[in-house]
Amino acid sequence: MSEELIPLARPHVGAREEEQVLEVLRSRHLALGPKLPEFERALGASLGAPHVSAVASGTAALHLCIRAAGVRAGDEVVTTPFSFVASANCLLYEGATPVFCDIDRRTLNMDPDAAGAAIAERTTGLLPVHIFGYPADMPAFEGMAGDRGLWVVEDACEALGAVHADGKPVGARGNLATFGFYPNKQLSTGEGGAAISPTGEMQERIDSERNQGRSPDMGWLDHDRLGFNYRLSDLACALGLAQLERLPEMLAARKRAAGLYGEALAGIEGLDLPCPDTGGDRRSWFVYVVQLPAEVDRDTAIRELRARGVDSKPYLPAIHLLSFYRERFGHRDGEFPICEDVTRRSLALPFFPELRESQIERVTAALEQVVESLRVTSQTGLSPKRAL
Ligand SMILES: Cc1ncc(COP(=O)(O)O)c(C=O)c1O
Repeated sequence: MSEELIPLARPHVGAREEEQVLEVLRSRHLALGPKLPEFERALGASLGAPHVSAVASGTAALHLCIRAAGVRAGDEVVTTPFSFVASANCLLYEGATPVFCDIDRRTLNMDPDAAGAAIAERTTGLLPVHIFGYPADMPAFEGMAGDRGLWVVEDACEALGAVHADGKPVGARGNLATFGFYPNKQLSTGEGGAAISPTGEMQERIDSERNQGRSPDMGWLDHDRLGFNYRLSDLACALGLAQLERLPEMLAARKRAAGLYGEALAGIEGLDLPCPDTGGDRRSWFVYVVQLPAEVDRDTAIRELRARGVDSKPYLPAIHLLSFYRERFGHRDGEFPICEDVTRRSLALPFFPELRESQIERVTAALEQVVESLRVTSQTGLSPKRAL
């Protein structure tokens, strides 16, 4: 293969990131230093949310948020099966049970009607996910939670920069919410995340629990509650600060790449593209995930794309059908038909802020070829190799 592989994701790291991280290295203050509150303040200001706790990962943020919400062992929490596994796993850490419901075919987010139907006697909370950066229908979930006295934790790990129709940034509506800063995210700290609290009191609890249960006014090695080491280092916070300075630019670059994909891929018959923004909701572009025509075998398509120098991945597997969830909870195929159909057909294409137009053209040409030949394969029964 002569052409270089186009990777799935590639974080932006520029001179500013290097400068900020080097500054921390030179200061020798690598953890619990000044960059932590500085990053939290800057992130809070960009979101319009004052109570920000930077933590070790999006998963850590989810864990601390559900604890702050008051989850208990035996609780049931209604959530989506079309997500990264962490949004369900965090409930298991506390002995709660994720109760899945189907998703909306257009947005791929938890369907409010399905969520309403899944609420039962033991339900204590709702955990919607803003999947692929598209705002979940929070007004509907908030209404449902208000009527039934449920808590809400928003998994906004994939949605930094998204905006709801009412103008509120995703994650800043006054619910507990989480962000993730893994390198494929809109903003990266290497590993990292943030928990957004609606009140100073909740933030204090989260701040304390991320630091082994030590309250801000407590002395060295004094701990008055159970806690974890979910701290984010100053090196990571410095990286985050540099990335925040460029966030609008990086979001715009992602949006531009998505726009180019949208135009380029529109001609491939039977290919479903990510839904456009509707009713005032604004997506923050995290990944570019298409759904292949039903007759095209996705896993063969991934192999054939790779042979043409294009990296791609199934994105995402349904959580309830992961072996661990099947075994533990007895889930089976067919429970959530929309999620399962989307899951079978979904394919993440290379997507990052610096993706060039020429690379998008290469991905498009490869995808077009692969889809057409695999369509022929499915119609004729010829092996993919012969069809290609
Ligand atoms: C929807 C969602 N929730 C939670 C997480 C967990 O974040 P992290 O990998 O930083 O722990 C991710 C990260 O990929 C995610 O996409």
